Amino acid sequence: MALISSIPSIPPILFAIVVVSVLSTKILHILQHIQSLPFVYFVLYSPTLFLPDVLVITVLRLLLQSPETRLQWVLFYLGGALTLLTWFAASTHFGFFLETGSEVQWGASESFLRDPAAMKILFSGIYTVIASGAVIFAISFFVSTRLYSMTGRWLHAVRDRCWESIKEPRSLLPHSQPMNIRRCSFHWLLPTSAIVISLFFLLLTRPAVPYNHLSGAIPLTMLNAFHGQAAGCRPQPRPFPFLDDGESTHFRRPLNWAFGSKPEEEERERPSWLPEDIPPGFHRWEVGSAIHEEKYGVQAIQCAPEVFEHYNAARDPMKVSNLDEEILAPLQDAFKDVDIQHVMLVILESGRKELFPTQPGTPLYDALLDSHEEKDKEDAMDKLAQMTLVSQMLTGEYAVDSLGQPANLSASKWQDPAGPDMGGINVRGALTGSSLTLKSMMMGHCGVQPLPVDLLEEAGLDIYQPCLPQIFELFNRKNASAEEIQEKPFLGYNWKSVFTQSCTDTYDRQNILQERMGFKEKVTKEVIEDVESKHYPPKGEEVNYFGFAEEETYPYLRDLVFGAVENNTRLFLSHLTSSTHHPWGVPENYTKVQYMGKKGSVDHSLMNNYLNTIRYIDDWLGDIMGLLDEAGISNSTLIAIVGDHGQAFGEDAKVTGTFENGHISNFRVPLVFRHPQLPRVHVDANATSLTILPTILDLMIQTKSLKQEDETVASAILPEYQGQSMIRPFKNEREDGMPVWNMALINSGGSMLAITSTTSPFRLIMPLKTEFAFRFTHLGKDPGETQPLQAWTMPRLSSLVMADHGEDAAAWLEEAVKVGHWWVDEQKRVWDYRGR
Ligand SMILES: *[C@@H]1O[C@H](CO)[C@@H](O)[C@H](O)[C@H]1NC(C)=O
Ligand SMILES: *[C@@H]1O[C@H](CO)[C@@H](O)[C@H](O)[C@H]1NC(C)=O
Ligand SMILES: *[C@@H]1O[C@H](CO)[C@@H](O)[C@H](O)[C@H]1NC(C)=O
Ligand SMILES: *[C@@H]1O[C@H](CO)[C@@H](O)[C@H](O)[C@H]1NC(C)=O
Ligand SMILES: *[C@@H]1O[C@H](CO)[C@@H](O)[C@H](O)[C@H]1NC(C)=O
Ligand SMILES: *[C@@H]1O[C@H](CO)[C@@H](O)[C@H](O)[C@H]1NC(C)=O
Repeated sequence: MALISSIPSIPPILFAIVVVSVLSTKILHILQHIQSLPFVYFVLYSPTLFLPDVLVITVLRLLLQSPETRLQWVLFYLGGALTLLTWFAASTHFGFFLETGSEVQWGASESFLRDPAAMKILFSGIYTVIASGAVIFAISFFVSTRLYSMTGRWLHAVRDRCWESIKEPRSLLPHSQPMNIRRCSFHWLLPTSAIVISLFFLLLTRPAVPYNHLSGAIPLTMLNAFHGQAAGCRPQPRPFPFLDDGESTHFRRPLNWAFGSKPEEEERERPSWLPEDIPPGFHRWEVGSAIHEEKYGVQAIQCAPEVFEHYNAARDPMKVSNLDEEILAPLQDAFKDVDIQHVMLVILESGRKELFPTQPGTPLYDALLDSHEEKDKEDAMDKLAQMTLVSQMLTGEYAVDSLGQPANLSASKWQDPAGPDMGGINVRGALTGSSLTLKSMMMGHCGVQPLPVDLLEEAGLDIYQPCLPQIFELFNRKNASAEEIQEKPFLGYNWKSVFTQSCTDTYDRQNILQERMGFKEKVTKEVIEDVESKHYPPKGEEVNYFGFAEEETYPYLRDLVFGAVENNTRLFLSHLTSSTHHPWGVPENYTKVQYMGKKGSVDHSLMNNYLNTIRYIDDWLGDIMGLLDEAGISNSTLIAIVGDHGQAFGEDAKVTGTFENGHISNFRVPLVFRHPQLPRVHVDANATSLTILPTILDLMIQTKSLKQEDETVASAILPEYQGQSMIRPFKNEREDGMPVWNMALINSGGSMLAITSTTSPFRLIMPLKTEFAFRFTHLGKDPGETQPLQAWTMPRLSSLVMADHGEDAAAWLEEAVKVGHWWVDEQKRVWDYRGR
């Protein structure tokens, strides 16, 4: 009986849910940022951070009075709806935090809602969200009665003190009025106004960044989801930061940047190799080819009519070219025996360099071992040495087991016929240019840098360089001469480009982007599950919310490879893996290995699943290599292998995943240019996937794998790309001292930018929106980024960096920020992006 009578009624519970949701979310929100806040300012301004919450709570307390009149019922329903919304927002906030360690961005949710595959990602965390909601409810349930009556008493007190005293006089005689007002103002109103005024003062004086973001209260922050995308004006060029500043500590004025000069459109001649009807991707070589306004339909009225200046390598102040360098010596002699008839580009989803192959000597390897008790460590090392055998053969980096012996490779189904001294270029130190997969993929295929805005807006724009399929398509237009065909018959064959992946390509407009890149043929999940398809039905279940395991594409790849041999075609095969994506599923009959121990406070099961998908993909690469061997084309196929981005786990950092997470483990990727007849060359360079396209072109030119007409085209467009060629010594800086700046977008693209330069060990995460803080690390001293410096403003970060790392680091930081801002604007300009 006692229990039943103590069950609270609906209004107190609803109100308690509001209070618990709003306050707990705010506290979590502040804790997530507390490291980056200067203590004194934080203490000073913290009262203002709770003002919106107090407002929300007060309004809802008034709405959630036990209803009697009709008006009160209406208000009550409104309050109830707002309560549910608040509860939902808080549960999502906590669920998101528990899954990824980062914050929900309501502003990004609109783009997710229109995308079925993206919705599945969101739903993958639904249990954590539900659990968070349940905990909020439980706490609310227990505090509800007291909370409701307590706040009720406060409201009454306020009403009694002032409301009544103001109302009373009206019913009384005029002369009694002054006394009543005095009672209210002196005993109650005065201190209250003092508090209100000081709060207002603090509110007006506090810095907008980060306190505006920190003070946001649910459910008000959800309104961010509804701001629309307004079209802006055409971005105009901005001067490169170091132009007028001869004093710059790190480099002199760039040599080849004549900003402000007229584009030399008139002087430029139409290249003779450019066909009359210009193929897609090559429009920028047309003379006078500014893209015209009408292309974009209605133009914002207040914009001045401005022409668009295409990307122009000669005027790119950040470009560092190494085409004037000699070919790497070991390669030079090998070229005469090398044929490149086919090209394959393999992009490894969440492919971390530390696991390609897995070998001792990285922070990750140490973390994997640390999960084991001392007695189990040797066994763990032996398992890890066996985890990625194919990657060892492809890179020529060999893992060692617990005895310090090279891993025994005989367990691999695929054995490299080329031997350990052969295999081509293995890059150590490569970084991705985007932790958003599809933007990263585009960099490899087209040699362009991505647009620093959320999600794949590039799908609706012109890609500013020709992509590989478009180049091959252009090559198809010309015939080889009889002599050429006699020397190398494949020079007379036509190219065929095919994109293959076992998952869906409908996520975030990937299919549209692929068509823009020039792919006319593809194998995707949609093909695999099509009843009409040749190899229908699929052999296994879907392994994640994007689609199937890679092996479902095998029969299709087989057809393509053998078809190319049979029909005398040159194949450009692009393949994106997906099993290594969250939630890391492998086919049911694939034997899983326990790689992780139980030690430590982190749940190692996610990492363990991931490692199994890594081994699965390693095996899969062996299957692909075996297929090429079987078809007899491995000696004439160049394979570029690159990771799209890394993947941060609890073992690496507090914040996990790639979403809005700048941690370095999301950026180190493998990069390999494999050809069995090229000698093995290890290159230590912080290259990005921008180098893929130029390297492929350069290799095909140098090995005489193109007919004369195509070689002319390839040689003409090669210097127009921003990336360096990896068959030549990588230049870390230009003659004038400017380093190669590597910019990397952080998923979902428009919130933060990671900046490194090839001549310094420093790394900066620069916010592109006010909700994010600056973050600085020294990778030389702290390769796992465990001790980042964080601040909300540049002056503050600068002083922190100066104190910890000295003047050079602070000077680098100033330059990085300037270059970063310039780069963001310049990217929007070369993409001719009109959004905000
Ligand atoms: C490698 O392992 C195989 C069995 O998987 C064994 O037969 C072979 O002797 C081993 N090689 C070395 C060098 O230990
Ligand atoms: C290329 O050869 C084919 C037949 O072999 C011919 O039909 C075509 O016109 C030729 N194209 C050019 C550009 O010469
Ligand atoms: C070879 O080309 C012909 C004609 O284009 C086509 O019908 C056939 O399917 C191709 N064969 C293979 C194995 O792709
Ligand atoms: C798993 O099953 C598929 C389809 O039945 C088969 O092709 C594959 O070889 C099997 N894999 C293993 C490791 O048994
Ligand atoms: C590839 O070339 C090597 C020599 O460079 C040769 O031994 C091997 O048989 C060739 N493989 C195929 C499949 O032709
Ligand atoms: C840059 O490359 C060097 C040389 O390979 C490597 O040691 C360093 O870790 C790379 N930087 C990053 C951020 O990976």
